Amino acid sequence: MKSLQGKTIILGITGGIAAYKAAALTSKLTQQGAEVHVIMTASAKQFITELTLQSLSKQRVYSDTFQERDPSSISHIDLADAADLVLVAPATANIIAKMAHGIADDMLSTTLLATTAPVMIAPAMNVHMYQHPAVLSNMDILYNRGVQFIEPGEGLLACGYVGKGRLEEPEAIVKVVGNFFALQQDRKSGPLSGRKVVITAGGTVERIDPVRYISNDSSGKMGFALARTARAMGAEVTLIAARTDEAPPRDAGITLVRVQSAQDMYEAVMERWEDCDILIKAAAVADYRPRQSAESKIKKSGDTLTLELVKTTDILESLGKAKKGQFLIGFAAETGDTEFYAKDKLARKNLDLIIANDVTAAGAGFGTDTNIVKVYDAEGLVLDLPLISKDEVARQVLRLAAERAAGVSL
Ligand code: PMT
Repeated sequence: MKSLQGKTIILGITGGIAAYKAAALTSKLTQQGAEVHVIMTASAKQFITELTLQSLSKQRVYSDTFQERDPSSISHIDLADAADLVLVAPATANIIAKMAHGIADDMLSTTLLATTAPVMIAPAMNVHMYQHPAVLSNMDILYNRGVQFIEPGEGLLACGYVGKGRLEEPEAIVKVVGNFFALQQDRKSGPLSGRKVVITAGGTVERIDPVRYISNDSSGKMGFALARTARAMGAEVTLIAARTDEAPPRDAGITLVRVQSAQDMYEAVMERWEDCDILIKAAAVADYRPRQSAESKIKKSGDTLTLELVKTTDILESLGKAKKGQFLIGFAAETGDTEFYAKDKLARKNLDLIIANDVTAAGAGFGTDTNIVKVYDAEGLVLDLPLISKDEVARQVLRLAAERAAGVSL
């Protein structure tokens, strides 16, 4: 089966030297079964002809918003509505700026504003243009709006410079597009499709004063892997993230809630608890916080300083007490007697599963891309996972959770 069979793709081509690669891209997308409708900007026509793209796509090529050949339709609206994906390749700094600021002054930019389909862009430009703060800030706007990027490669650019800015090769772009549709399919029919999953990640921050705090080594990687994987399996995900080392995933379908302290996390979790099917607490939450957080910086004075700490609310324990059919999973980060403490937390916090990691083991726990975990339920050990990536841990745990929450074997 061709990977793009039945998909309608609008291919926007803008005016850079890399526009010549759009011919191969059109051909390869079409060969994979896609119906490709090309929209060219006026500058793109300086680099490649309409006839080439029409011959390869076997479709009419558009460039002029006002050249309406069929009186019963408005082309840019019809194209925008028909698209399963709008792909702009190559995307110049100019179209990126127009997209970021909602400018609609030609056929392509108007269609981009009118479409509700996912948008993917493959930038290509001079290395210095690519690094210009204006371009970076425009790309940031698009990224935060959910536009997907196919990063340019590095190498010799047509302008003579060597650096980042070269349009990704057509084969690679077709692969990204194929993967995108495959993932979309998984989300529709995946084991967590239609489920609401809440995941916490990172380390909470307990303020001592405006410039100092108590936190821990959680990077957020374990929670982020769970959020990405749950989304890929079809769940509607809420990711509640405290301080993290890495940027959280921004995929459509993952709602990000940023929090600081254990108390903030408690409130954010509780607000979403009623309406969730599965909740996983991968965050490292402070057990104690300073009794008071000073309003201004604490000045150096005596030889010692005593901080009085008070217990934070145990979020997981509160959830366990308020459980009404939700599937609740906790983590146990231990440095010894892992099984004993994990089982104790499972019972005390009324969890359905607990994921125990011995954070002293090499490749496990805080900051690593891998983990080693044992998963327990009330009956005992259910999964014993050796050193594997956090993505793979997430996949196995979520598969088990999906199965158990649905009461079926997948
Ligand atoms: O973020 P990474 O760098 O990828 O690291 C991953 C991790 C080591 C943080 C993760 O795998 C992990 O073990 N997370 C739980 C850390 C932790 O706080 O463990 P704990 O044993 O202290 O707490 C047990 C459980 O109770 C946890 O699910 C925790 O989120 C929860 N808890 C703890 C205290 C509190 N006040 N409220 C809670 O809900």
